[in-house]
Amino acid sequence: MTNQTLKPDVRGFFDPVTATWSYVVYADGHADKRCAVIDTVLDYDIHSGRTKTESADRVIDFIKKKGLEVQWVLETHIHADHLTGSAYVKEKLGGKSAISKHILKVLETWEPIFHNEADTPLMGYQFDHTFADDEVFTVGPFEAHIIHTPGHTPADTTYIIGDAVFVGDSMFLPDVGTGRCDFPGGSADDSYNSSRKLLSLPEGYRMYVGHDYPPNGLRAPQCMATIGEQKRANVRVGDGITKEQYVTKRNKDDHGKEVPKLLLPSIQVNLRGGTFGQATDGVQYVKLPVDKI
Ligand SMILES: [Fe+2]
Repeated sequence: MTNQTLKPDVRGFFDPVTATWSYVVYADGHADKRCAVIDTVLDYDIHSGRTKTESADRVIDFIKKKGLEVQWVLETHIHADHLTGSAYVKEKLGGKSAISKHILKVLETWEPIFHNEADTPLMGYQFDHTFADDEVFTVGPFEAHIIHTPGHTPADTTYIIGDAVFVGDSMFLPDVGTGRCDFPGGSADDSYNSSRKLLSLPEGYRMYVGHDYPPNGLRAPQCMATIGEQKRANVRVGDGITKEQYVTKRNKDDHGKEVPKLLLPSIQVNLRGGTFGQATDGVQYVKLPVDKI
C-alpha cells in the first residue's frame, strides 16, 4: 500500500570532480526503510586508471547510518562524464539495478565502437530490470513512475517518486538550462519535447538535477528547483521559449563542444552496469578506440 500524502526525503551528494549529484530517496522515520539510490559515482583517475570509492562510500555511509535498505539502484541514463558507482553500491548493500529499456538503443550505438559484446549483453541483462515507458513501481512507501525524456541521449529517463522528480541531464537548474544534445542519438528537438513533458507536472513538484554547473562559479552547487521555478526562469526552456528558438541555440552552443574527459571509460563501464568486464590474468582494461568518435 503506497502513501499518497507522505513526501519522500531526498538526500543529495555532490561530487565536485564531475559536478554530479547522486541521491538517496527514502522516508525518514518511517517503518518502511526501503530506499532508492540514483546516479552514484565511482571515482576514476584517467591518468593512472585507478578507481576510488569515496563518492559512493559517502552514499553508503548515509544509508547505513539511517538504517535504510536499498530497494533500487537507479540510473537516469548512460552517463558520459563519470563512471557509475551502481555495481559497487549493489555489491555492498544489495538492491535491484535498473535503467530505461531504451538502453538497448545506446548499446546498439556503441557496440560497433567498443566490441564489448562478450561482457556487455546487447539485451541489457547486465541490469536487473529495464523499465518500460510510463512503468509504475514503488520506492518504500511511495508510488513511483517513469517517463521517457530523450534528448540528451535517446535513453534518458525521469523517475518520479512521490512529488520528487529525478531528471538526470534532461534539465538543469533554471540558470543553467538543459543537458547538451550532441552525443550519439541525442536530439535538441527531443530535448525540448521532454522539457515540455516535465514542465507540465504540478508546479509544486521538486525537480532534482543530475549535475550542477553554477554559472561563473557565482553560487554554491544546488540540486533542486520546483517545476514552477523552472517554468518561470529556466534560461533555455522556460515559459515563452519556442522549440525553434531552443533547438537553434542548443545546437549552436553544442557545436564543437569538447568531449567529456571521461567519455570513453564512462560509456563502456556504464553500459556494463558499472563494471570493468572480463579480466585477462586478473587485469581489467578500459578500451580507447582510435578515431571513432
Ligand atoms: Fe549525462
